[in-house]
Amino acid sequence: MRFISLLLLTFSLSSAQTSYEKGKALYLAKVCYSCHGHKLEGMNTFPRLANRAKGYMSYKLKRFRSKQADTQAQEMMITYSVNLSDEDIDDLTTFMYEYIDEESSERYDDSFQTHGDGGS
Ligand code: HEC
Repeated sequence: MRFISLLLLTFSLSSAQTSYEKGKALYLAKVCYSCHGHKLEGMNTFPRLANRAKGYMSYKLKRFRSKQADTQAQEMMITYSVNLSDEDIDDLTTFMYEYIDEESSERYDDSFQTHGDGGS
């Protein structure tokens, strides 16, 4: 039995190598999709997570992990983040930030560029 779990562990580690893939596996394993959607698109009051700033997302997840929530709705997130390690959060936020919809290859980029065309 122990051998089989070790085998499964080795398999899951070797099949999920990049941070993006590990984040994706975590996103599925931790059922984040049940609220945030299979395409990270959000649902009703549950926020969209696709292509959101990595730094902000990890700041939020670490706050939830330390049981801090600003609103009652956010308290829902505490349960889903208390067991996340720093590495888990890093993988999850990489997955969110770099998320690509594999069916349409669409990617939204909401990063703000301060240097523009000078308002022409
Ligand atoms: C039961 C529903 C539910 C599940 C499951 C859930 N979330 Fe959330 N999530 C929420 C709610 C509610 C908020 C807070 C929305 C608000 O600020 O009003 C939130 C907020 C967040 C935020 C902050 C987004 C922002 O715009 O501030 C992140 C990041 C996040 N969730 C990631 C995750 C991850 C990763 C998982 C899986 C480990 C997960 N969520 C599972 C309901 C859920």
